[in-house]
Amino acid sequence: SLNDTDKARVKAVWAHVSTHAEEFGGEAINRMFAVYPSSKTYFPHFDTSPGSADIKAHGKRVMNALSEAVARIDDMAGALAKLSDLHAQKLRVDPVNFKHLSQCILVTIAAHGRNLLSAEAHLSLDKFLTLVAKLLICKYR
Ligand code: HEM
Repeated sequence: SLNDTDKARVKAVWAHVSTHAEEFGGEAINRMFAVYPSSKTYFPHFDTSPGSADIKAHGKRVMNALSEAVARIDDMAGALAKLSDLHAQKLRVDPVNFKHLSQCILVTIAAHGRNLLSAEAHLSLDKFLTLVAKLLICKYR
């Protein structure tokens, strides 16, 4: 779980990321579709070509949901409860996809400047994204 140092680092990185939700989110989803093409099967109704309006809108929604989890970092289960129901009961996303998306989010942040994601911030954000994934898939079984 996240200790106080992790929480402080996540909040510090996210203060920047959250002000670029559509840009960072869209880039992360672009990367997921490009690097892990099987992830596209969950989005048959999307225009999955790079930079599409669907990708931008969805990237923004994902990042805003993560911003909510950061804002309620001591009650992440509560912050993510509705999304947990959606991903578990309706979407049934194979859990490996969460690892892939987390990776794409980390790479996106790192690609926006070396000062944004120090090794320590990388560690804490990885822990945060792992916890988010755990909360989103915990209702699968
Ligand atoms: C929808 C967040 C991971 C597939 C959504 C929505 C949000 C969200 C906020 C919109 C919910 C709404 O419309 O009310 C997240 C977060 C994730 C995550 C925070 C992890 C960091 C994934 C992964 C996949 C996925 C890994 C599959 C590769 C979908 C699909 C939808 C959806 C198919 C419905 C899209 C649509 O029809 O508009 N997600 N998601 N999600 N998510 Fe996730």
